[in-house]
Amino acid sequence: MMALSSAPGPIGVFDSGYGGLTILHGIRQLLPEYDYLYLGDNARAPYGTRSFDVVYSFTRQAVLKLFEMGCHLVVLGCNTASAKALRSIQQNNLPHIDPKRRVLGVIRPTVEAIDTLTQSRHVGVLGTPGTIKSESYPLEIHKLFPDIQVSGHACALWAAIVEAGEAQSEGADYFIQKDINALLAKDHEIDTIILGCTHYPILLPKIRKFVPEGINILAQGNLVGESLKDYLQRHPEMDAKCTKGGTCTYFTTEAEEKFAESATTFLSEQVSVQHIELGNNQTNNYSMETKEDKSRTTEVFQGTSWEAELVKGLLESNGIACMTRMGSAGVYSLTIGNDYSVWVFEKDKAQALEIINNRTETHEEDVE
Ligand code: DGL
Repeated sequence: MMALSSAPGPIGVFDSGYGGLTILHGIRQLLPEYDYLYLGDNARAPYGTRSFDVVYSFTRQAVLKLFEMGCHLVVLGCNTASAKALRSIQQNNLPHIDPKRRVLGVIRPTVEAIDTLTQSRHVGVLGTPGTIKSESYPLEIHKLFPDIQVSGHACALWAAIVEAGEAQSEGADYFIQKDINALLAKDHEIDTIILGCTHYPILLPKIRKFVPEGINILAQGNLVGESLKDYLQRHPEMDAKCTKGGTCTYFTTEAEEKFAESATTFLSEQVSVQHIELGNNQTNNYSMETKEDKSRTTEVFQGTSWEAELVKGLLESNGIACMTRMGSAGVYSLTIGNDYSVWVFEKDKAQALEIINNRTETHEEDVE
């Protein structure tokens, strides 16, 4: 058992990056009197394309850090972490860390709200590839409402578009329309769409543009706030462990200035933030940072069907991204904004990693 302070402390809210700020905002509107610690693992975001093990390990580190900083209650303000890590942390780790501390997620409160919203009993879910692949939404929905038909669609780039500050750009329209159409094509009777990623409320004006009238769009911030309020009322022993000074302190694993600048997009207010280290930033052997890319988050993964769409969507829409083909092995580098790179390889992972590791700044062929 770890030596953690038993003194009351703030409520922790964790997200892979900025998205959880939409959850924090919703919570604070309903529960402004409590103290909060927000922790964004921006240096390792996005989580949405990462494996179960990696998301579990990162989230566990973050929860532990928030406990060490005095929190007794932590909300995972991230669907990917809630889908992939919450249950494991609750079952495997909490009993050893401190059985009285609690970690809550965002999926259950969202699911509870759909019953009264859907008339057709056909619901759609938009989320990161990790959340959709985990099947957490259909599983949780069917536990409570077995009669509801659920269709999910992974929006591979939406969170990255928001993180890159491109939520208002024309380039975003292409992907938002394409992904909404793909979801609605799966089931024409959908009358409620869950935005199953905390970044997506930032895209709401554009989402509304492409979702036909009469379909409910469900964002999570208020729902999580209401659920937390209810939880604290039902658990006075936990409520007594949460301090009430109305403060909010922000921590990020990225550069402080970068977080402060981007956080205003999510909160419409200035925040002051402190840098914090969580574990080791080396994520797994698919992800790496090189000297020339020091300030970038770099993801590497296989995505054979991506190239045509990315080139078409991103390059046609005023160049929010630059896509480059490296050599002849089908390895592509896609850069979104200044600090996010995705490497996509078609076939041979080993060959792809060799090219990426040995790459120079002279690209052999530009798709542009
Ligand atoms: N905020 C995360 C979520 O709600 C998505 C961003 C990410 O992929 O890290 O799933």
